[in-house]
Formats: sequence, C-alpha cells, structure tokens
Amino acid sequence: MSVNSGLRSYPFEPFTGDLPAELLEMVVTEPVSRVRLPDGRAAWLVLGYEQCCTVLADPRFSRLPLGATATPDGGGPRELNMDGPPHAAVRRVAARAFTARRIETFRPRVQRLVDELVEAMLAGPRPADVVAGLVAPLPVFVVCDVLGVPAADRPRFYAWIEGLNSVTAYGSADAATAQAQLRDYLAGQLARKRAEPGDDLLSAWVRGTHELADAELVELAMGVLLGGLEINSTSAGLLALFRHPEQLAKLRAAPEKLSAATDEILRYTSVSAMFRVQVVREDLVLGGVGMRAGDCVMAVPWAGNRDPRFFPEPNVFDIDRRPDAPHLTFGFGPHFCLGTALGRMQVELSLGALLTRMPALAPAVPPAEIPWRHDRMNGGIASFPVTW
Ligand code: HEM
Repeated sequence: MSVNSGLRSYPFEPFTGDLPAELLEMVVTEPVSRVRLPDGRAAWLVLGYEQCCTVLADPRFSRLPLGATATPDGGGPRELNMDGPPHAAVRRVAARAFTARRIETFRPRVQRLVDELVEAMLAGPRPADVVAGLVAPLPVFVVCDVLGVPAADRPRFYAWIEGLNSVTAYGSADAATAQAQLRDYLAGQLARKRAEPGDDLLSAWVRGTHELADAELVELAMGVLLGGLEINSTSAGLLALFRHPEQLAKLRAAPEKLSAATDEILRYTSVSAMFRVQVVREDLVLGGVGMRAGDCVMAVPWAGNRDPRFFPEPNVFDIDRRPDAPHLTFGFGPHFCLGTALGRMQVELSLGALLTRMPALAPAVPPAEIPWRHDRMNGGIASFPVTW
C-alpha cells in the first residue's frame, strides 16, 4: 500500500460548472491541501489567491519534471511550456505580434465573424445549440484569421484542429497525425509569409525576426493555436447570466456595462476543476505547508478568483463589481495568457451579439440539464440549447 493511499481524490465531485461549496470554503480554511489527482499522482492542491500567484510565477515551481532542462538535447525546438530564459526568449518574439494595439485591429474582423455565426443561427431552426453555432467555431475562425491561414486552406485546417482537440485529452494516433500535418503546413506558411508578408501574426513574426528558427516559430504557432482554441467562458458566462436574471436584466438595460460584465464573467465562471500540474524545484513552505523538491502542485485559478481577501463577497456574481485585484482566469506571471485581449474580445462580442440580436434569448432546457464535458482537461459546456 502506498503512503498516499489515504488521500482524498480530486476533483471532489464531477464538475458541472460550479466549484463545490466545500472547495470554496477551503479557499480560506485550507488554501493548500494534499489530494490525489485523477492520474493517481499525489499533489498539493492550491486554492488561495496569493498562493496560486506564487505557484504560477515563482521560479521554484517548474513546468518541467524535476531534473529536466529547459532546452532538451542541447537546443531542440523551444516552446512556450518551459521555464525561465528559454521561455522568455520565445515569449518576447510572440508578444511582439500580440500587442494590445495590434489585437485591437482585429476587433472589426472578430465582430464580422461573430455576426455571421449569429445570423446563421437566426436563419436556422429553434432551439439551436449556441456551442455548435457560435462558441466552438468562433475561436477556430479567429485563430485562422489571426495566423493568416488563407480561406481556401481553412477546411483542411479545421479537420486538423478537430484531430488536435483529441490530443489535448488523450494523445491518440489520429491526433499525432493531425499534429504532424499541421506542423508541416505551418512551416510551409512561414516560408510563404517570408516571401509575401500579410497583415497577420505569422508575417509579424517572420518580419525582421532572426532570433528564432522556423522550427521554433512553428512550435510557437502551435502554442497559439492550442491556447486560442477553446473559449469556454462565453457559454459559462451565458449560463451565469441566465442563472442570475437580475444581472441579465441589468446588462440588457445598460449594454454599456458589457465590458465590465465580461471581466466579472471571467472571474466568476469556472470552466474546469483542473489546471496545469507543476513540480516543486526545492524544499519550500507555501501557505504554512512544507513541500519537498519533486512534489506535484496544482494551482486552481478559478478558486483563487473566489478568495474573499481579494474579492469581497467572492461568491456573488455582480456585473457592477470593480475589483482591486486582477482575476486569475488568464493565469499569472511569466505564462500569463498571450491572447488575453483577443480572448476577452471574443467573449464580449459574442455575448453582445447574442443579447442584442436575440432579445428574447433563453435556455431551451433547465440550466441544470445543460451537459458539461468530462473528456478533456479544459471541461466546458458540451452543448447549450437556446431559443429566442
Ligand atoms: C477567454 C479566453 C482565454 C482564456 C480564459 C485563456 C487562459 C489562459 C491561461 C490561464 C493561460 C496560462 C496557462 C499557464 O499558466 O500555463 C494561458 C496561456 C496562453 N494563452 Fe490563453 N486564454 C484565452 C484565450 C487565448 C487566445 C484567444 C489565445 C491566442 C490566440 C491564447 C493564447 C495563449 C498562449 C500562447 C498561452 C501561453 C503563454 C505562455 O506560456 O507564455 N489564449 N491562457
């Protein structure tokens, strides 16, 4: 029998959109505790806001298994899921193309994509699934647009992305094939953008950049692709609004609140009970708890978002909230989401279009019957039938 066999299994219950009351209480009473993860590993579960920030930003917590070096084999392709200076080098190049100003220029394009999807829903039968109709396709279209994938190649691109989605869950053979084909395709695109630069991210990366080899830029593009594919906050946000009709009414009466409401939606909604597992590099103390080098740690940003020390009355959903602290939904520290502005924009424009184009928008099934996905780490709502 292993020493850890008595540990409590995490998640405590199947995730269906709300963090359980017990977990929310533990944010204060036990911000760091010991659990067993679904893959059998024992880990430190980190729920407090401050402690989550430490795990995500302090170099004593690593994304690599203990003993692994940041550039394997003396300099293979570097990617974003690394620590320290090698990560910073890739990130610097990536961030150049992700400035708030550049991303803001995508707003009309994102709006057009949102409008087209909502119009197709309006023209189709009622009820309709808002996940299949808007939430799932939009980020894929946006990522294609941002990366500069030509329209003619998009059907092929979408098929690979379907395959990739299973890689994030299981790593099947199909997924590996899709990944290899995507890498080849992106390498070809990079060569093309060097010859004929456009107004897109790949072009911005290759223009005047000699710090990264093409293989590294391909990994970066893969990172952006994977990072930008699932924006579950839109469907989770819609559900939160339906569950809090007074907040929905407030938003309908004052649409100019949408931007602030988007931040509260991002803070309040949880799309999964899981997050990235990291490794402790050296013996240390976190939240009064001693950890040993090699221990696994999982910070849950959605729990940190409910820490009353940073968000008064944290379990109240209030679109008028003006918090002093930033929420952790986009992460924290060196790996803070590169696509924050673009992700936030998609949530805001999607909810805005749904509420204005569908004034009688309502769930077509009781909210408790809306199915959540359990086949992927990212979770999220599987389908969301609505009527209008
Ligand atoms: C509402 C939508 C989104 C949410 C909630 C979100 C959330 C996150 C979080 C929590 C992280 C940090 C993970 C970690 O600590 O390892 C992250 C990283 C990242 N995200 Fe996002 N994201 C969103 C949209 C996007 C979009 C649209 C893109 C790109 C088109 C994107 C690209 C990335 C990339 C490249 C990283 C890795 C950054 C690094 O490791 O340095 N994300 N995102």
